[in-house]
Amino acid sequence: MPLVIPCSELRPGMCLAEALMSSRGRVLLSGGRVLDHSEVNLLQRKYPDITVRVTDPALDELIDFEDDSHDRTVAQTAARKISRSMEKVDKRICRHTALTAVDIKALHGPVRETMKYLEENPVSIALMPDSLDRDHYLREHSGNVFFLSMLLGAAVREHIVAERQRQTAVPELSRRFSLNITPLGLGAMLCDIGMLPLEHLFTTDEPLTEDDQKAIHDHPHVGADMLPEGFSALAKMIVRTHHENFNGSGYPKRMNGDSLHIFTRIVRIADAYDAATAKHVYKEAKSAARVLWEMTCGPYYRFFDPVLMKVFAGLIQPFPIGAKLRLADGRYAVVVRYNRKNPFLPNVIIAFDAKGERLPKEDLRLVLSLEDRNDLYVRSFAGEDLSYLYGADTSYRFVPARKEINTLFEAAYP
Ligand SMILES: [Fe+2]
Ligand SMILES: [Fe+2]
Repeated sequence: MPLVIPCSELRPGMCLAEALMSSRGRVLLSGGRVLDHSEVNLLQRKYPDITVRVTDPALDELIDFEDDSHDRTVAQTAARKISRSMEKVDKRICRHTALTAVDIKALHGPVRETMKYLEENPVSIALMPDSLDRDHYLREHSGNVFFLSMLLGAAVREHIVAERQRQTAVPELSRRFSLNITPLGLGAMLCDIGMLPLEHLFTTDEPLTEDDQKAIHDHPHVGADMLPEGFSALAKMIVRTHHENFNGSGYPKRMNGDSLHIFTRIVRIADAYDAATAKHVYKEAKSAARVLWEMTCGPYYRFFDPVLMKVFAGLIQPFPIGAKLRLADGRYAVVVRYNRKNPFLPNVIIAFDAKGERLPKEDLRLVLSLEDRNDLYVRSFAGEDLSYLYGADTSYRFVPARKEINTLFEAAYP
């Protein structure tokens, strides 16, 4: 298994463990390439914030790393399939042609096919690919929101059945009907379709005008209205409500809690998570650790269904296998196995001393569970100080219930 290090720690002579791909699937540098001086400089200049997987044969020989390659491939494949189908919708809207029932019907195929693929290839964690350049943000975002929603939906199937039966006026809604999550997939994929005509806003860091703000505020309605008659009513409802928060602070209608459909509550989490971890012209990406913390116990914990959020947190692993973590005592540990119950406390091996020097071979065999070791918490990863994970900062309790949307980021997250 490779070592996952921040781009700033790359040195000439290091070997890429896998290809560096552009968001469109173009290979920028192939896996197995030994980096030279100019490539290291180029990567550090162009992509200073990414983490890179480099080979480490010495560690590989000694340590039995958890193999997460299946989960990573599934995430990438599912998200790409949906992103590609969104390309067609996108082109249609760019040409200012209205969507027809035929266009939308054509989306059912890829959605069903991808759902079948996910059923046949179950995963227990969501390992989203690191995107180098999201030149078509909304397409990629659609793929990621779809994948995350499907994964969360699959993890809470029984909860979905119970919630749909509770929420429906039909007293004995059939189990088969309740278990059908196709509308969730369609709604997740199309939730931001109303933003497609506003895609230019994603490529500028100019402050939003009043008109822009209004258009963003209206995108859930505009999106739902773009969908033709006869389209899944449930999926349309998801599009219309995907910015409503669990505590009633969302938009456009400030609906709350149990009145929100279970599918809306799922998409809300997937959408917010992906928006926050994506890099934009107008904001830096937040780390997976930061976003997961903000959504579970930080400033925004009230915005999301707590039951779903708890399950979602178990699906996200902010520290990938091979991640080089700085511990509280200054030494560096490497993640060897995920902890599905508490993703902030994975199983590690301490592999480097406080100066970054590799420890002798005989010291590299002991796998430690950070969950069992209060003294060994993670201080930083990829240059980010993680003390907020352990701090007593309770300022989040005073987050106003509702604030005006001033940036695109605030519109999408939380
Ligand atoms: Fe949205
Ligand atoms: Fe979104």
